[in-house]
Amino acid sequence: MAPGFGSWRMEPPGAEDASTSSAYADQGPLARLLSKLKQFKALAADKDLANSELAPLVRALPLDTELQQLLAKFHWYPGHNFTTTVDLANLKGALQKYKYIKIGQLGSGSYGVVHKAINRETNELLAIKKVVHSIENGLSDSTIREISTLRELQHDNIVRLKDIIATVNGSHVHLVLEFLDCDLRHYLDTYAEASDINRIKSIVFQILRGIRHAHANSIMHRDLKPQNVLVGVRSGNVKITDFGLARCFLPNEDRAYTERVVTLYYRAPELLLGAQHYTSSVDLWSVGCIMAEMINFEPLFKSDSEIGLLFRMFERLGTPTPDAWHEVSGLAYYSENFPRFAPRRFEDLVPRLAGDAAGMDLLRRMLCYDPRQRITASEALMHPWFNGVTV
Ligand SMILES: Nc1ncnc2c1ncn2[C@@H]1O[C@H](COP(=O)(O)OP(=O)(O)O)[C@@H](O)[C@H]1O
Ligand SMILES: [Mg+2]
Repeated sequence: MAPGFGSWRMEPPGAEDASTSSAYADQGPLARLLSKLKQFKALAADKDLANSELAPLVRALPLDTELQQLLAKFHWYPGHNFTTTVDLANLKGALQKYKYIKIGQLGSGSYGVVHKAINRETNELLAIKKVVHSIENGLSDSTIREISTLRELQHDNIVRLKDIIATVNGSHVHLVLEFLDCDLRHYLDTYAEASDINRIKSIVFQILRGIRHAHANSIMHRDLKPQNVLVGVRSGNVKITDFGLARCFLPNEDRAYTERVVTLYYRAPELLLGAQHYTSSVDLWSVGCIMAEMINFEPLFKSDSEIGLLFRMFERLGTPTPDAWHEVSGLAYYSENFPRFAPRRFEDLVPRLAGDAAGMDLLRRMLCYDPRQRITASEALMHPWFNGVTV
C-alpha cells in the first residue's frame, strides 16, 4: 500500500540512506522498524495505516520504560496500538536516537559535539557528530557538504558514514560514523610506537590513499590536520574524517574559492598568499606537514598569524621566487619586499631522515611551493619511500 497521508515534502539530505530494508534484514526489531519507517515518504500517517504497516513491528520491540515513554509520545499504547495520527518523521528520528546509547564525549570542534556511542542492538561502537543548523536557514553549506561528501566517498581510509539522524524542524542533524580509537593528534601525543618510522610510513601511506580516492572523485579535503585523521590503535587503520570543508571541484576549472579554509599550520603557501584559484594540491602540502611533524615530534611550521607562518616557511624552505614558482608574484599578498632567505638543508629540517634519501625526496616534493609541480597523491603512493609498505 502506498503510504500517502499527511503533508509531503522533501526528505532531509541523505535520509533515504543506503541502508535499505535488505541491509537491515538480519538485524534486530528496532532496525527492522526503522527500515520500514525509512520507506515512508510522507511525514505522517493516520492510525489505520500506521497500525497495518507498523504495529506488528512495534510489538516486536523489547519494551523498556524508556521506549514505552517514547512511543507514548506518538500515541502508541500497548494493547491499543496507535490511537491517532502518527508523526512518522519524528518517530523515525526519535527511534534512531534511541537506537544509539551515548557513552562519552570524543571531541567538540567548530561545528558541534562528537559523542562515542553504542548501537543498542548490535553493540557496535560509533561516533555521533551533532551538527547544529538554524531552523530558518536549514542545513548549513558545510553540513550539506560533509554529508554529501561522506556518502559519496566509500573507502577504507575514509571514515564511513553509517546513518544520518535528521528530525523534521529540528535544529541539528546527527551524523553516525564508524568509531576509531582516537585522532592522530592524540595518537602522536600518547603512543610511543607513533615515533617509529615504519609506523609513520604506514600512516602517511594510508592518508595518501584516502586523499587519492577523494581527489579521484573530484573532492578536496582542504582541512587536513592530525585532528582530522583517525587511528585504530590496534588495527593500525588510518581514516580521514571531517569533510566539513571539503567541496567538489572540477579539474582545471577556473573557480574562485573562499581563501580561509585550511587550519593554519597545515595551510599551503598559495592559500596564505591569497590565491583565489587553487587545486587539490593544497591537501598534499598538508600531508607533507603532517609527515614532517610525525618525524620531528613537532609541527614544521608554527605561527598564529598567516604572515608569521609564511615567514616560518621562508626561513626553512627559502623565500619563493618567480623563477621557481612562476605565478607567485601575481598572488594578492605576495611582496617583492619579503625578506630573502636561502633554503636550509633538508637534513637539518628533518634530522631523523638525514640518512633516508627517499624520505627526504618525498617530503621535498610534497612541500614544493609551486602547486603545479607539487607531487600528486597517486604519484606519492608510487614513491620509493613506500617500497615494501603493506599498511
Ligand atoms: N569517528 C570518530 N571516531 C573517534 N573519534 C572521532 C570520530 N569523529 C570525530 N572524532 C573526534 O572528535 C573530534 C572532532 O570531530 P570532527 O569531525 O573533526 O569535528 P569538527 O568539525 O568539530 O572539527 C576529532 O578531532 C576526533 O578527536
Ligand atoms: Mg575536525
